[in-house]
This record gives sequence, structure tokens and C-alpha cells, in this order.
Amino acid sequence: MSIKHFLQFSDFTLDEFDHVIERARLIKQKFKNYEPYHPLVDRTLVMVFEKNSTRTRLSFEAGMHQLGGAAIYLNTRDSQLGRGEPVEDAAQVMSRMCDIIMVRTFGQDIIERFAGSSRVPVINGLTNEHHPCQVLADVFTYIEYRGSIKGRTVAWIGDANNMLYSWLQAAEVFDFHVNVSTPKGYEINPDLVTPGNGNYTFFANPSDACAGADLVTTDVWTSMGYEEENAARLKAFDGWIVDGEKMKRANADALFMHCLPAHRGEEVAAEVIDGPQSVVWDEAENRLHVQKALLEYLV
Ligand code: CP
Repeated sequence: MSIKHFLQFSDFTLDEFDHVIERARLIKQKFKNYEPYHPLVDRTLVMVFEKNSTRTRLSFEAGMHQLGGAAIYLNTRDSQLGRGEPVEDAAQVMSRMCDIIMVRTFGQDIIERFAGSSRVPVINGLTNEHHPCQVLADVFTYIEYRGSIKGRTVAWIGDANNMLYSWLQAAEVFDFHVNVSTPKGYEINPDLVTPGNGNYTFFANPSDACAGADLVTTDVWTSMGYEEENAARLKAFDGWIVDGEKMKRANADALFMHCLPAHRGEEVAAEVIDGPQSVVWDEAENRLHVQKALLEYLV
């Protein structure tokens, strides 16, 4: 029997997402009502972090605990990971001791190799190319607020990164459109987009990309902790801040999302991220609920 992994958004069908979203809704309700729900008793999640995290670690660890199972955290500083052991060997060993594995690593090729040698499901907790769990939470959040995302327009304002590539895959599955505006030098890599994906349009001007949008979203321009190295990026991204003027171009009921962490005054103005159209705290919380539904589905 083949093992079901979640390595990129396109790994699931619309029916599978509909199921996971419905479960996430019920699991969230139980959580809010303090109703115990333990379908994963005696099950173990191992979380492999080659890059730092706050939200991903917390949501997977808390989620597995709340489902009645255990979560084990491994990183490259205090384990043998990243010291030369082939990923295939690490995957063999981990998947004989655990029921499901989450990996945050650099290249998508690494997680694909890892999954290829795993005897249990593997979830992508972020690679350089994809961040499917975050976009699943974002789609869930949009649906919670507006009922459906089908036929809607999402404006992506920023560089072509793992979030954008997952948004583009989500647009194909859920049938919505993405208006993309990236600065010069930070454009989409066509190798990371499904050939013939007709669900996005490029705009040279970020304000034009926001026009008529139902959701405006962006991401950090400079990774947290690397601000000095990334001074050149700040120059290239001049004009790409999501501010009140750009939000005025979007539909009156448009939402604002950001996967966090955020730099106020760079990719987003405080008036937007802390304003009435922002749903960033629900978006962050929903990582917990959708990932619990995902764990339940895959285990
Ligand atoms: N949004 C997100 O993935 O946050 P972390 O890097 O803190 O996990």
C-alpha cells in the first residue's frame, strides 16, 4: 500500500481537503468547548527542524498532545541530524519508531528523498519551495470568514517564495485566482509552477494587483535574524509595503493575512496588520486546528 504524504499542496485532492477542512472545523469546536478528543492515543509524531520555528513547532506539538499522542522535537544542534547521515537512513530509523513525521528543511528535494524512504506519512513543515500547512490554515481561515474561496481573488504582494508557490497550487485545487506582484529580481520561477497554471496573473504594480482582491497577503522580505545581510532586499522591495492605500484598492470586505512573523513598516504597515481587515491571529491559531485534522487523516 502506498503511503500518503503531504509534501506540497497538490498532494491532496479537493475531496481530501474538503474532508480535512470539515474535520478541522469540528476539532476546533471541541477545542473551544474544552471537549477531550483523543483519536491518536499511543501514537507518536517526530518533528525534524533544520530551520527555526515558533508557530509550526508549537502547533504540531500542542496539536499532537491534544489528540492524545506524543510529539518529539529533533533539531540539527542537539542530534545527529545534519552531520552527514544520509536522509534516507534517518527516515528509515525514525519511521520504525514513530507513526508520523513532520520535516522542516531547506530543499524540496531533501523532503522528497526523506519521504521516499519513510514507512510512515511525512508532512512538509516548510521547505524553500513550499509551505502547504500554512496555506491550508489560510484557506481554512478564509472559508471560516467568507464561506468559500472558489472564484475569489487573492493578491500576493512580495517575492516569489514558498508561500506563493503553495498559494498557486491551492488556487488550482480550490479554483480561485491569484494576482501576483513581485519586485524585479524576485519573480516566479516557472519550474515551480504547474505548466499551464491559468489561476494567476502577474502585475508589475503592487497596487494594481490589489485592485478588486478579496484577500491581500504578503510575507517577510527579510528573514528574522538576518536583517543586516538583507539590506539590499529592502531597497528592491521599496513600494511593495501593504499599506492602507493598497488595501483601499481591494474590495471593501477584503481580508488581510500574513503567515508571521512580520516586520511592521516593511512588508506591512501597522495600520493594516493591526487594523480591522486583518485576520492574522485567527490565521495563526488555525495552524493548530488544520494540522490536528491533517494528523488525524494521515495517521
Ligand atoms: N508561519 C510559520 O511557519 O511560522 P514559524 O516559522 O514560526 O513556524
